[in-house]
Amino acid sequence: MKAKITIRDIRKFKEDAAPFATVTAYDYVSAQNADTAGIPLLLVGDSAAMVIYGLDNTIPISMDELIFLTRAVRRGAKNALVVADMPFMSYQPSVEDAVRNAGRFVKESGAEAVKLEGGTAYTSQITAIMEAGIPVMGHVGLLPQSYHLSSGYRIQGKSKLEAEKIKDDALAIQDCGAFAIVLEGIPADLAEEITAMLEIPTIGIGAGPRCDGQIQVLHDIIGLYNDHAPKHSKQFTNLSSLMQEALKSYKSEVENKQFPAASHYILRKNTAAKVSS
Ligand code: KIV
Repeated sequence: MKAKITIRDIRKFKEDAAPFATVTAYDYVSAQNADTAGIPLLLVGDSAAMVIYGLDNTIPISMDELIFLTRAVRRGAKNALVVADMPFMSYQPSVEDAVRNAGRFVKESGAEAVKLEGGTAYTSQITAIMEAGIPVMGHVGLLPQSYHLSSGYRIQGKSKLEAEKIKDDALAIQDCGAFAIVLEGIPADLAEEITAMLEIPTIGIGAGPRCDGQIQVLHDIIGLYNDHAPKHSKQFTNLSSLMQEALKSYKSEVENKQFPAASHYILRKNTAAKVSS
């Protein structure tokens, strides 16, 4: 059996200059599949708000909703490191809230690390969570929880001022001791510069090919979520159409009395019973 991945292993990817793929997961089965495929880090993202709960953005999802999902993911992830995403307002109001909620993830769901959005504004929260013994992953650039402030999901860091702010945020997060950082929705050349500047691994999404690792929303790459197709994503398969095919076949076989067939049921023994056609 392979050993459980730790934050040291994630850091080592950067030391070894080995690109690595990570993905979101929200349930036991998808975690098991990602784990079996050798994905080293699974993020129980607050993107669950959209792909699991059908909401328009990530803002409404609660701690409890993410704890339930994280628990299931943790059971499916035998090797991968499980990181839980701190939802909107679980860490912003105070350091106490941040530590309590990060602690809930670890204690109640088995998460092995947490992720939170934002940089210099949250260094006290990141430091305090780490002092409580919980590893933290940062997230800068496009911040989905700041959806309203940013007037929607928009690429960040195009101007010099914005780029400087993102670099400052990334450095501040590293200085607090975070083990990795997500770079979301920023120009690829800025992501490359930040990746070269930091000692901790960068994990890009919509940030080009020069990050140390990549992360994608599972449902986007397996073609299971069709409400919105992000430009940075690639459908490696289309599970949605396979699912449609399977469900239509099932429906039609039931309607045509082809399913269940003889191999799918039993009859009582010692009777002349048979099922009528
Ligand atoms: O919630 C999420 O899925 C994320 C990734 C996009 C990084 O934060």
